[in-house]
Amino acid sequence: MFLWGAATAAFQIEGALSDDGRGPSIWDSFGPIRDGHTAETACDSYRRWADDVALLADLGVNAYRFSVSWPRVQPDGTGPANPKGLDHYERLVDALLAAGITPALTLFHWDLPAALPGWLDRDTAHRFADYAALVADRLADRVGLWITLNEPFVHTVYGHALGLHAPGQALFLDALPAAHHQLLGHGLAVDALRAAGASSVLITNNLSPVWPASDSPDDRAAADAYDTLHNRMFNDPVFLGEYPDLRAFGLDAMPGLRDGDLAIINRPIDGLGVNYYNPTRISAPQSPELPFTDAGVEGYPTTAFGWPVVPDGLRELLTGLHERYRVPLYVTENGCSYEGIDDPGRIAYLDGHIDAALRADADVRGYFVWSLLDNFEWAEGYHQRFGLVHVDFTTGERTPKASYRWYRERIARGA
Ligand code: NOJ
Repeated sequence: MFLWGAATAAFQIEGALSDDGRGPSIWDSFGPIRDGHTAETACDSYRRWADDVALLADLGVNAYRFSVSWPRVQPDGTGPANPKGLDHYERLVDALLAAGITPALTLFHWDLPAALPGWLDRDTAHRFADYAALVADRLADRVGLWITLNEPFVHTVYGHALGLHAPGQALFLDALPAAHHQLLGHGLAVDALRAAGASSVLITNNLSPVWPASDSPDDRAAADAYDTLHNRMFNDPVFLGEYPDLRAFGLDAMPGLRDGDLAIINRPIDGLGVNYYNPTRISAPQSPELPFTDAGVEGYPTTAFGWPVVPDGLRELLTGLHERYRVPLYVTENGCSYEGIDDPGRIAYLDGHIDAALRADADVRGYFVWSLLDNFEWAEGYHQRFGLVHVDFTTGERTPKASYRWYRERIARGA
């Protein structure tokens, strides 16, 4: 059965940051966020989760991708489970199942417990596996699809290399151990999930087809280096059991890598979650710090966020992933920021990208729109509206957009 879904993440929708014993996460106090917005209330989904399930049921999706907040389950990131935290997700999972919707559960969507030392510290990988075991002990019998990590590239680069996301570290290439430790945590969590009887397990990476700005050898080499950092660093160890060649970055080996780690990271899993937004165009480096320059994709329409709209990039991406890894692929996020409840831009975007995904020469098993709801878009606060459903962030009121009705009809037409 092809999965037609919508996606959200705990920190972006839940609010209720102190309810039922939740501990602080690294995002709770992170700044700067545009206009000083906070996720204190967000979509109020911790309280209004039943409204969200009703919206999903009316939308006609057969899958919902959401994330569990680690600091609700382990307020300090270690030790026994806080039962009230797990109760919340159990209620959600049971309500989804009652509505005929497969729960697709992401374990880590960036809201790390603030008490932990963070992903630069190898021990966090082990803490993550313990947390995965606690969630799986409660829910393994009912969750259809498990996703260990969401976008470790973005968490590494925005959070640890550039300081644009929590935890706000600007370490440039010294951030790479955070990538390795997340991937190690992924592998350890796979073992924990399997031990608890979890069925399908994926990792979700945000991936981008990389276009050299020209055919010149320098542009092509730069594009290859960028592809290494953005895509292959996070896919190859999981599916091929090795890191790509990092010499373009002046590295002989992946920082943090120890004997035996790759065997853990390479544990067999059931497919790759693909988050796609746009391609990347790369030219030769202009400074000695990095072996590439982002040349910008030009000549395409853009969303309200300024991101280029290139539907065929999704076909290109999925086809290339199939050639390289030969695993089932799930589009775990795809979507766009536009204003308004009448949103023809979103309809055109989704229409083009769904067609592109279905045209790919690949084993594509699902498609999830980002997002069910307008929500807290990280450093952008509430400024970027990605939802099929409009949210009034003052009252919490939900209003389905034109794209919501369009998606319902698209799902009914089938894959
Ligand atoms: C990727 C992230 O997983 C999600 O949290 C974010 O809101 C969307 N992309 C849009 O930027």
